Amino acid sequence: MSTNNSHVLVTGGAGFIGSHSLISLINNDYNPIIIDNLSNSSIKTIHAVEKITSREIKFYKLNLLNFNELEKVFKDNDFSSVIHFAGFKSVGDSVNYPLLYFRNNIQGTINVLDMCNRYGVSKFIFSSSASVYGNNESVPLKEDSELLPLSPYAYSKLIIENILTSLSNSNNESSSKNWQIIMLRYFNPIGAHESGLISEKVPNVPSNIMPLILRVASGEMNKLSIFGDDYETKDGTGVRDYIHVMDLADGHVAALNNLFLTADKENFCKAINLGTGEGYTVLELIKNFIKYTGIEIPYKIVDRRSGDIGSSFANVEYAKNFLQWEAKRDIKSMILDAWNAYKYQRE
Ligand code: UD1
Repeated sequence: MSTNNSHVLVTGGAGFIGSHSLISLINNDYNPIIIDNLSNSSIKTIHAVEKITSREIKFYKLNLLNFNELEKVFKDNDFSSVIHFAGFKSVGDSVNYPLLYFRNNIQGTINVLDMCNRYGVSKFIFSSSASVYGNNESVPLKEDSELLPLSPYAYSKLIIENILTSLSNSNNESSSKNWQIIMLRYFNPIGAHESGLISEKVPNVPSNIMPLILRVASGEMNKLSIFGDDYETKDGTGVRDYIHVMDLADGHVAALNNLFLTADKENFCKAINLGTGEGYTVLELIKNFIKYTGIEIPYKIVDRRSGDIGSSFANVEYAKNFLQWEAKRDIKSMILDAWNAYKYQRE
């Protein structure tokens, strides 16, 4: 669809999902403009996206808590819409530094929303997370399933969802403003762009499964620990809905297209799951990794991780019906693209 190179503010555009989404946005004629404080990302990622897309991307290194500087960015640009990715995302850190997480994620979002109000931007996409379902195991998880977040990180996502819903319900935050808001609840994003030029930044002490498998595959770690094999799943190990990050990126374009089909006078705020709808156990993920890369992944079974649940996967009907979007890439490309990008980053 033609969007006349619409200027889309992308906060957190240098991060894992943000940077991959830039590629999909540019390929679909949007003109993303980035704000990122590079606290957990690098300017190199933006340069890599420029290389992949043969396009220069306007970038502001800025902390969203800096209200005055943020206002300058809104003053200098005519944004049609916002995709708000920026936020801290480590579950473990959020347990140890809750104030940091709540201040950064919640106040940062409020500042962006305040600017949207001041500068008449009503189309807003929020990077939410399946972690808002938390302790709810009635899979497949639907958008109206009970929300039982387990960590400060997940709470920060739920609080922001509530702020967005309240804003849309208020219908009158400033004069006669209406909002068109989509909150995307991501399941477990893995993989990377097929070029291998950008990928997830792996922390020194990873906690998510894919970065750990990559570490073991590269020989940086000896063994993977599988957290429990006594869940009520087909082989006893945890089930998750892994989704290729480029499918997730395309999901943002579908959401934005939808908002552009919607008149500014309409008012809504919807949560939508982005997953494949299919679950894989930890053992299945490892077996597939071995099958497609030919690399052995030694593992041992250890106790369950506290705060983990047995099964989490999405009901994806709403995304299919409302966004006309569904995940296309299979587990093989998730694994091979992740491995390819990991090897490239280490060269
Ligand atoms: C975790 C977060 C979640 C966040 C998501 C981002 C927790 C409790 N939850 O979800 O809030 O949104 O990452 O992708 O941290 N596993 C092992 N061994 C490991 C690591 C993981 O067996 O060393 C298993 C887990 O038990 C789980 C699966 O692998 O069954 C996936 O784990 P992980 O990648 O950490 O994602 P989630 O727990 O789903």
